[in-house]
Amino acid sequence: MTHMHITSWALGLILFIIALVMYKKGNQKPAKIIHMILRLMLILIIITGGILTWDYIQGPFGMPILGEVIVKALAGVWLVAMMEMILTGKAKGKPTTAKWVQFWIALILVIVLGFFRLPMGFLFI
Ligand code: HEM
Repeated sequence: MTHMHITSWALGLILFIIALVMYKKGNQKPAKIIHMILRLMLILIIITGGILTWDYIQGPFGMPILGEVIVKALAGVWLVAMMEMILTGKAKGKPTTAKWVQFWIALILVIVLGFFRLPMGFLFI
């Protein structure tokens, strides 16, 4: 499940960047298609992340770790929400600075907790 989670968020980040560049260049139609595929990927990220969260809840881990998992999961959902809101903002030509600030905060939280704190990850198997 960890591999599927990593694959889906890695693909998600790549599609996010492609859609962003296309919206910026004014290629609305291809950008919309990439954006739609990205939405499927975002759902997959939430499902795989949700399963991982459930594994932790059911596993032998005690409270400090479980607390971090919940923060990780919330930051993950927050990041997905910001990716979607940045793209819809770009598509409509609205300012996205506030969303970008939240995007970076959530991304840093997710990477630090996911890779360096939580024990079930890729680097530890
Ligand atoms: C774009 C959004 C997301 C990114 C970039 C992301 C990133 C990561 C990273 C880097 C890891 C560590 C993998 C590893 O150590 O091998 C991870 C694991 C995990 N993620 Fe996410 N994630 C995202 C969304 C979510 C969501 C939405 C949830 C929950 C609903 C979630 C829950 C988890 C859980 C429970 C783990 C296992 C923690 C561990 O043991 O390492 N993630 N994620």
